Amino acid sequence: MSTRVTAGIKAKGSCGSRNVFFGVAPQKGLCVTAAGTVVHGKLERGKGVVKGMRSFKEIPHTGRNGWLNLLKFWRENRFQQLHKHMERTFNMLGPIYREKLGTLSSVNIMLPSDVSELFKSEGLHPRRMTLQPWATHREIRNHSKGIFLKNGEEWRADRLQLNKEVMMSAAVKRFLPLLDEVAKDFCRMLQTRMEKEGRGEEGKCVLTIDPSPDLFRFALEASCHVLYGERIGLFSSSPSLESQKFIWAVERMLTTTPPLLYLPPRLLLRMGAPLWTQHATAWDHIFSHAEARIQRGYQRLSTSQGRASPAGTAGGHYTGVLGQLMEKGQLSLDLIKANITELMAGGVDTTAVPLQFALFELGRNPEVQESVRQQVRASWAQAGGDPQKALQGAPLLKGTIKEVLRSC
Ligand code: HEM
Repeated sequence: MSTRVTAGIKAKGSCGSRNVFFGVAPQKGLCVTAAGTVVHGKLERGKGVVKGMRSFKEIPHTGRNGWLNLLKFWRENRFQQLHKHMERTFNMLGPIYREKLGTLSSVNIMLPSDVSELFKSEGLHPRRMTLQPWATHREIRNHSKGIFLKNGEEWRADRLQLNKEVMMSAAVKRFLPLLDEVAKDFCRMLQTRMEKEGRGEEGKCVLTIDPSPDLFRFALEASCHVLYGERIGLFSSSPSLESQKFIWAVERMLTTTPPLLYLPPRLLLRMGAPLWTQHATAWDHIFSHAEARIQRGYQRLSTSQGRASPAGTAGGHYTGVLGQLMEKGQLSLDLIKANITELMAGGVDTTAVPLQFALFELGRNPEVQESVRQQVRASWAQAGGDPQKALQGAPLLKGTIKEVLRSC
């Protein structure tokens, strides 16, 4: 049996990845806050409720029959309003509840203090929910799994290698100029659109748009630039067919993931279900996109080795996380491919959705927006073109992002 633990309330009905649901294997005893009722965001403990350690079975649940629960979910269209369903259920069952939907069991945790308790108890090898549709794709295609899909010592070993190229400040310093380049192009694209399509006089021009597709493209373009050291040209008015197919594949993979979380992928595969076929085909496309870049990376690497370029660069250019990992050679090529595709998949809607929330919040808080803008401008002017320095001098921007992540 696999049980996931989810924390908080989902922001948007896409992704379905570990970014939104983080799960652990069920434990016999779980240190939980005693169940009570949540009123206006505050927990009111019920009379006679025992505080302290309670068994997994004692966690209140929404019904034992996963298939009946799933049917109810579909009939009442709860997937579209998952956050409301969770809020209602937390109010009814208390701040920790179990839910079985189709093949997926979850434990949902509302209070940050309880989530923190769980994280503290996990030790060096946290166990996370397996994203079954992704894992099944890797198994049937004989691909390696990346850190998203691994647990235990194997996960830790790969994660430590990846930290060096993705998380550590020296790595961030290397790829920040790439993000900056994409962000500047994105702003230029919006500016041009404003000039062409905006209404009103100069200086007071208004343009009403739905920013979600643009933010999705921004996140994908930025991720690919950092990961592959290459632009894929998604801001162009006529992106290449290859890029169009890639964006289609990422979108399709993300939208087919949530429904597949509740169904047995191998059964769907045997039945030739279109949902599964679409999901697997989208992943195949994403993998072949990565494969083509790995081939190119190889060529670049061999040319640059002949010319003795500095580490992680070809002809003086940073070659992305992919180039760095290939050059270090501590992960096998299969593992590099698996992790690069997972990093790419994990970084798109998780970036685009909070950015949209941030724009929304800044839009309805114009004074805050003005303060953030002024601080960013002043900091940029002082940073002498160094984006890392500019970020350090703009704590309000960091505060905005943190507040958005807290609330969304
Ligand atoms: C605001 C944006 C993001 C949010 C809210 C977010 C959220 C999360 C969460 C909640 C997890 C699960 C953590 C856990 O298992 O303990 C996670 C894991 C992960 N995320 Fe993100 N994420 C974001 C951006 C990104 C980006 C930009 C990337 C890729 C460049 C990414 C790649 C990953 C990967 C690879 C994992 C698995 C890590 C592991 O198991 O070691 N995420 N993310």
